[in-house]
Amino acid sequence: MSTPVSSFPEVEDRRASDRQAAAHTYLMCRPDFFTVTYKINPWMDPAIPTDTSLAVRQWQTLYDTYIALGHTVELIDQIDGLPDMVYSANGGFVIDNIAYGARFTHPERQAEGPAYMRWFEDHGYDVRVPANVNEGEGDFMLVGDTILAGTGFRSASDSHAEVARIYGREVVTLNLVNPAFYHLDTAIAVLNESASQAPDAGNIAYLPSAFDAPSRAELERRYPDAILVSETDAGVLGLNSISDGYNVVIASRATGFEAQLRERGYNPIGVDLSELLLGGGGVKCCTLELRR
Ligand code: ARG
Repeated sequence: MSTPVSSFPEVEDRRASDRQAAAHTYLMCRPDFFTVTYKINPWMDPAIPTDTSLAVRQWQTLYDTYIALGHTVELIDQIDGLPDMVYSANGGFVIDNIAYGARFTHPERQAEGPAYMRWFEDHGYDVRVPANVNEGEGDFMLVGDTILAGTGFRSASDSHAEVARIYGREVVTLNLVNPAFYHLDTAIAVLNESASQAPDAGNIAYLPSAFDAPSRAELERRYPDAILVSETDAGVLGLNSISDGYNVVIASRATGFEAQLRERGYNPIGVDLSELLLGGGGVKCCTLELRR
């Protein structure tokens, strides 16, 4: 995680202090039973065959990448018959050791909610059983002291109020309008979650056209320095990424976003999850942040 040596020390020094990598803890689910047997988003087509062993190998690369970056990864076992359980980001939302459980929109995924809540319980989290439909970190993200919350396709806006009550933080509702970007984490990437005064703290990248006009205006007002990503990069789930404040793990096919990140002094790391993309998920979908 060191910054490359440059012949322009002033520039590199500034970058090194601008972008601080922080160690994170993630929850992942190895795709042992991954396949596509139903269609609940435009990416899925049960007629297209999936290769479970390839999915596992690609997933392993993502896991290994986090370990190499110094992060901690915890695992939940996939349950046979719950193919989408591999997208652990949907299993809940965890801040301050409080795990707000998921309550899925589609019947095909509903059994995942209790399975994840059991895991949180067994691992010492303060579990809150949700009263409203919500798909965890797929639709909730922490940026500084604010929680951005998506609605339109999956999580109900009532869950936004519930999250505001539970965590005592400001929650900003954002309306998603494009079915290809059905979860907030397909349309926004958090580049720096911290609330510090460091440059780019609390900054994001996003796809403007994924939101209605009022939500777009809200994003412009709050994040004037955001990276605006192209339809092409968002269209390979490039925004579905994980940043530690310096290293940003992204879809390897999102080459435009990769260049934008590099320009800003981040260190983009491309990973190919083509098999998991057949279920409509990428890097972030396979990763749930555990904030103790
Ligand atoms: N097939 C899953 C679904 O449609 C994909 C979930 C992707 N997860 C995410 N965090 N965006 O629900």
